[in-house]
Amino acid sequence: MCGITGYVGSRAAADVLIDGLRRLEYRGYDSCGIALAQKNGKLYLNRVSGRVELLASQVKERPPQESLAGIGHTRWATHGAPSEENAHPHTDCTGELVVVHNGIIENYLRLKGMLIKGGHKFKSETDTETIVHLIEEELKKNSFYGDSPEILEKRFFDAFRNALKQLEGSFAVSAIWSRLPEMILSARMHSPLVIGKGEDGNFSASDVSAFLKYTKKVYFAEDGDIAEIKKDSIKFYDFEGRPLERPLTEIEWDAAMAEKGGYDHFMLKEIHEQPSAVENTLRGRVMPMDGTILRQELKMPDDFVKGMEQIQFIACGTANHAALVGCRIFGSFGIPCFAEYASEFSDRAKLLNCRTLAIAISQSGETLDTIIAVREARAAGAKILAITNTVGSTLTREADYTLYTRCGPEIGVASTKAFLGQLAALYILAGHFAVLRGAMPAGKAADYAAELLKLPRHIEKILKDEKSIRKTAELFAKSEHFLFISRRFNYPIALEGALKIKEISYVHAEGYAAGEMKHGPIAIIYPGMPVIAIAVSSENLELVNGNMAESKARGADVLAIVDGKSAAVAKAAHYIKVPTVPEIFSPMLTVIPLQMFAYYIALAKGCDIDKPRNLAKSVTVR
Ligand code: M6R
Repeated sequence: MCGITGYVGSRAAADVLIDGLRRLEYRGYDSCGIALAQKNGKLYLNRVSGRVELLASQVKERPPQESLAGIGHTRWATHGAPSEENAHPHTDCTGELVVVHNGIIENYLRLKGMLIKGGHKFKSETDTETIVHLIEEELKKNSFYGDSPEILEKRFFDAFRNALKQLEGSFAVSAIWSRLPEMILSARMHSPLVIGKGEDGNFSASDVSAFLKYTKKVYFAEDGDIAEIKKDSIKFYDFEGRPLERPLTEIEWDAAMAEKGGYDHFMLKEIHEQPSAVENTLRGRVMPMDGTILRQELKMPDDFVKGMEQIQFIACGTANHAALVGCRIFGSFGIPCFAEYASEFSDRAKLLNCRTLAIAISQSGETLDTIIAVREARAAGAKILAITNTVGSTLTREADYTLYTRCGPEIGVASTKAFLGQLAALYILAGHFAVLRGAMPAGKAADYAAELLKLPRHIEKILKDEKSIRKTAELFAKSEHFLFISRRFNYPIALEGALKIKEISYVHAEGYAAGEMKHGPIAIIYPGMPVIAIAVSSENLELVNGNMAESKARGADVLAIVDGKSAAVAKAAHYIKVPTVPEIFSPMLTVIPLQMFAYYIALAKGCDIDKPRNLAKSVTVR
């Protein structure tokens, strides 16, 4: 997730852009930059590795000349480490075209290869730079001659849309051409883009917070839209160049609400971002499921995968719950797996060898316990694979291989979308490992991939039930203890449900393997105690139903997370339904209502949800 912004108008463009970038910094802040089409016909470019304040002081030292249009970007690295070279805006070979982009271009390596063959020189490691060279290439191709503004506009527009048509993946992209210093072209495909209609000019941005200070009148671009933005006009077209009508909306949000996309908290926003976060993790990595991603993206040798004796997971907190699900996923393909809290790992290190793959999972990539455990695993001879959301983090530098979850920055302390990204990454890996190791035949791999790709739509469906989940949560808002239970793939989700309640609402909650109930925990059940059971279709559903019945018989107030098939037999007073999927994939769905449940309990209690007491987003101490 990055932030893009653009402005055409009579205000000082550099100031407007920098102001917008400050507001978009929550979307990523490893580097940033602006480009302006100056009246002298030359492009002004200023980029820094670091925060917007640094850019602001650099622009003060080296101010642009008078300009009408400009674009800006604040980056959250996905392709290429955070650095000035990889910072946007990116320019073409002529230095006349410039582009900013939020999203992921899946086919950029193929396009880049083709462009390099055609003589283009690349200056960065980003996928984005491909776009600007593609526009340059298309400009060369188009056959309108003359220098009148109309002809130049037609040439730029056609080159822009023809370049976009070659892109696969997600993008919100804005471009300017120094020969047309009063126009921005912006387009959207699976990444957010809003266009603002102001009094002294018009705007484009990843979200309205970037320009809310100047206007509340916005057009929300849709996938496949191109916006042609000038000082006094905004026009929409599709990628074939046909004009479109988009409604102008007046929004009521204040600046803080706009940053959170209109949600009250980042946590709720991030819960709602999960369909697209998972799509980003899966993008370009699922099909074909035959080991390609291991070879091409991770560069992990087939022989290592085939000869691997065990997987050792290392993680903390929520990431450890992803690891526990991972054990069950890889275990189902016959790979011996172990998961250990990073802080408890050192005694296990001696059981690792050169045929061990240690998978360290960490949203931040900076958790000190995880990093120390990774060093111990490496010293024991294991190969290290990092699953993280943060490009260039310490963990990636310690690892042999890295698989990025690409969920965008997670700001709420309670991890939600990053957890789903971690699970999605584990399913991808496990599928490829299973095929390479002969544990999953081609036909089954195709079904597995198809189920995986359906998950974002299933998640959307659950999110639509927010109102009823909220009502259910409010019934339990005064409870002082919670017990979460389940079995097999959903046992780690019981742990995660309990952790979410603890950390944001400060209420005592425990997660247990449902089969353990009669070995102790059942003793604490008192009349009215909430027991939350994850009871979706599974080989062990009957046993979970039995555990619910035992709890109910002792007076527990049972809430069950069920699916269409399991609901009929559930023994609960309250239900939340999720779509039916094969059991292996069900953790991706069952966790969603539990995140919302925790959120609405914390909201009812008036807790500081995004910054819970005593906690930090990244734990860099032991
Ligand atoms: O950045 P990491 O994924 O390594 O963080 C690990 C834990 O600190 C983290 O998951 C923590 O448990 C979250 N606050 C849970 O919501």
